[in-house]
Amino acid sequence: MGNIVISGTGVFTPEESITNAELVKSYNAYAKKFNKINKDRIDAGEINLLESSNEEFIFNASGIKKRYVVNKSGILDPDIMHPIIRKRTNDEPSILAEMSIKASRIAMKEANKTPNDIDAVITACSNLERAYPAIAIEVQNLLGINGFAFDMNVACSSATFGIQAASDMIKSGSADCILVVDPEICSGHLNFKDRDCHFIFGDVCTAVILEKQENNLSKNVFEIISTKCITQFSNNIRNNFGFLNSAKETKPIDRDLLFVQEGRKVFKEVVPMVSQLILEHIKDEDIEVEEIRRLWLHQANKSMNDLIGKKVLGRRPDIKEQPNILQDYANTSSAGSIIAFSQFNSDLESGDIGILCSFGAGYSAGNIILKKK
Ligand code: COA
Repeated sequence: MGNIVISGTGVFTPEESITNAELVKSYNAYAKKFNKINKDRIDAGEINLLESSNEEFIFNASGIKKRYVVNKSGILDPDIMHPIIRKRTNDEPSILAEMSIKASRIAMKEANKTPNDIDAVITACSNLERAYPAIAIEVQNLLGINGFAFDMNVACSSATFGIQAASDMIKSGSADCILVVDPEICSGHLNFKDRDCHFIFGDVCTAVILEKQENNLSKNVFEIISTKCITQFSNNIRNNFGFLNSAKETKPIDRDLLFVQEGRKVFKEVVPMVSQLILEHIKDEDIEVEEIRRLWLHQANKSMNDLIGKKVLGRRPDIKEQPNILQDYANTSSAGSIIAFSQFNSDLESGDIGILCSFGAGYSAGNIILKKK
């Protein structure tokens, strides 16, 4: 059995973006209006006054400066505060499939692959826009790929778990070349009326091609040395949206039907979990810390990444060793570490080791050890 490689990546970035200043302005207009309309109830102590948001807090707490979104006007309208996405007919490509094929075509070009060369598609992302048919099967159809396709969701770790699944399937012989695509419209699960989290997410789509090394036609190739995925149950990042909502006594406006988190707890619990995962994984593979040339980490919080980098390397990583894209994209769920990998891998030299690592809801963490060919 030959080695498995990543031979292409693609990133589709939406055209529109929102700066922290724009986001704060719209949130503060919403909060001011809310406080005015609800003055009597606030004065009576029935509900809390909404405090204003500010740019300085957002950048200092997260490292985020702006985010790309599929629709800006709806999010920034204080009377709407969510993206407006046109409802499509069943005969049109769905929005997740549409962004998936854009990212996939870039990855296929880099990997020098045509649809005929690919025999499976995995759509791995945090939020699927419908129950079925699988988005992956729609992507497969739109690209003209034979074989099979399926969707999977492990929240922010969907992409790395997808890479592990694809790598294992190629090893076991169920496919030779697999497209893993991660369409993330995180603005759709974000409550822009919640000051604690309104700044966190952005939209993007990434794609990765995995195949047997012997079939590789790409110049920029990374061998998958090993994958390790772990999960540990936690309610600290949760979204109760699901198909049973209409059967329960829930209303479309219930707060828990969108993303909710205890950010501080997540930070405290996930940093040691991820640092330990990376260190144990490289030890299992007889790789020394000094051999790590790059850390492509999940993009949720800059201080969190700085701390994980420091715990893993035993010193502060420099910007080149641990690149962040968070300042431009915000948290794009499972796509974040793939964007970092895609944008910051071409300068590595043959034999260099890099770590691609995601972490998030579940909790879930996926670690991929890569070696530049
Ligand atoms: N503007 C101004 N102040 C704000 C604010 C905003 N937008 N949002 C919250 N605050 C206030 C809070 O009310 C709190 O005030 P208090 O001290 O008077 O209670 C204070 O700022 C600190 O809030 P806190 O939520 O504790 O901030 P934080 O430093 O923990 O940063 C996160 C928040 C979410 C950025 C951070 O916890 C984080 O990124 N955690 C990791 C999350 C993660 O990785 N999640 C994975 C998701 S996929």
